[in-house]
Amino acid sequence: MGETWAVILAAGEGKRMISSLPKVLHPLCGRPMLRYVAEAAAAVADGRVIIVIGRGAHLVQEEMGTGWRYAFQEEQLGTGHALMQALPQLPEEGLLLVLCGDTPLIETAHLEQLLQEHGRNAATVLTTTLADPSGYGRIVRHADGRIRIVEESDASPEEKQIGEINSGAYCFDLKHLRRRLPALTTDNAQQEYYLTDVIGLLQEEGLPVGACCIEDWRAVLGINDRCQLAEAAEIMRQRINSALMRQGVTIVDPTSTYIDFGVHIGPDTVIMPQTVIEGRTVIGSNCRIGPGAHIIDTEIHDGVIFRQSVSERSVIESEALVGPFAYIRPGSRIGPRVKIGDFVEVKNARIDAGTKVPHLSYVGDVDIGSGVNVGAGVIVVNFDGRRKHRSYIGKGAFIGCNSNLISPVEIGAGAFVAAGTTVTENVPPDALAIARPEQKNCPGVAPRLLRKSDAQKEKDGEEEKK
Ligand code: UD1
Ligand code: CA
Repeated sequence: MGETWAVILAAGEGKRMISSLPKVLHPLCGRPMLRYVAEAAAAVADGRVIIVIGRGAHLVQEEMGTGWRYAFQEEQLGTGHALMQALPQLPEEGLLLVLCGDTPLIETAHLEQLLQEHGRNAATVLTTTLADPSGYGRIVRHADGRIRIVEESDASPEEKQIGEINSGAYCFDLKHLRRRLPALTTDNAQQEYYLTDVIGLLQEEGLPVGACCIEDWRAVLGINDRCQLAEAAEIMRQRINSALMRQGVTIVDPTSTYIDFGVHIGPDTVIMPQTVIEGRTVIGSNCRIGPGAHIIDTEIHDGVIFRQSVSERSVIESEALVGPFAYIRPGSRIGPRVKIGDFVEVKNARIDAGTKVPHLSYVGDVDIGSGVNVGAGVIVVNFDGRRKHRSYIGKGAFIGCNSNLISPVEIGAGAFVAAGTTVTENVPPDALAIARPEQKNCPGVAPRLLRKSDAQKEKDGEEEKK
């Protein structure tokens, strides 16, 4: 029987997307739609996958990387023409799966079913029945068992009523395909070489052609425009959320939870509503995330509480508390049991175990030891207008409220910085640093300052009347 190969058609422009990005690179839950199709194909064709590229070919190749074979379609003359470009790289005999790069919801199981039903056919089309089939090629079934695929733009009003559609996925016997593919013409409404016409050509020779109709219409949704992209993304999101829930994650409101493909979350973690988790994020078990959290490329260890906050490219270690309203920027490492409270921005900072930064601080380019208390309003002044500098705070230090640390500066372990101090020089371990003008009290002056002028009184009276 020979090997099974797969070709993915991905050279089209995707005019209906109205985009400078090739259609097949538009992401769905964090990764390009083409990657889903390619991986499903690779699983059944044992890695023997050829991707036909054309529009934005270099972008597609750059994104998909090596590990795939590529064929190039210079001019986009139709799906039949696209497949012709891959023929030279294919063996003489064997099975060939042909898939479209714009049907990302197709899964390995569907392809296995297609291969199974194909049996000894010359070709088998994967079909489904849609309530609204508009835009798709329709499957016309003749009384003698023959089938024909008619494109929307070539269909008669009666044919447009047909609910069974061509998914764009096929299985071919390569030996027969090789012979018939060059016979395609552009004699149709779009003046393109339609791959779908091969089905008719094979049957003209009396070869058996089948249609494998799957029930799960969601799996073959084709993406031609951004409305369909959103529709497919919703289905993908449901799949991702359901898989996580089956692995022991509580998702309080799956309809408002957006988790990218490939995100890992441990059991007994609770994801509260309105949460977005993106990229290469890994979350441990027993965490509580959200509501309203936005987490990108972040590693979160077990038992973390992460409330309405944002984190990007950082590590948050076990049992840390973050938020509400914290912003963890790239390069940060939040140690175990650290508390990062409200309106705190952390950037490229290492904060060791048990340290607290509870309110209203900017903590950028700094290493903070364990058990430090950073008071409300502390600012690490890391930028001098030209360059960034790094500061160090030793373990057990106390940084009083509203202090400014002018970087680079070192605060020794156990040191005490008095509230309101602007630290410009290193503070030795266990020292008290205090830098603020001495206070002066002027007895009895306040009432005079608070007394209103007659004119002001009159004005206030008028205001009240209004
Ligand atoms: C195609 C099918 C239609 C089917 C639908 C399923 C044909 C003629 N029509 O229509 O029966 O119901 O898919 O989604 O095949 N491509 C190329 N080179 C080209 C043209 C297209 O590589 O010259 C690629 C595109 O990148 C895309 C795929 O082929 O990934 C399908 O092309 P598209 O233009 O979207 O075809 P549809 O009109 O959706
Ligand atoms: Ca399409």
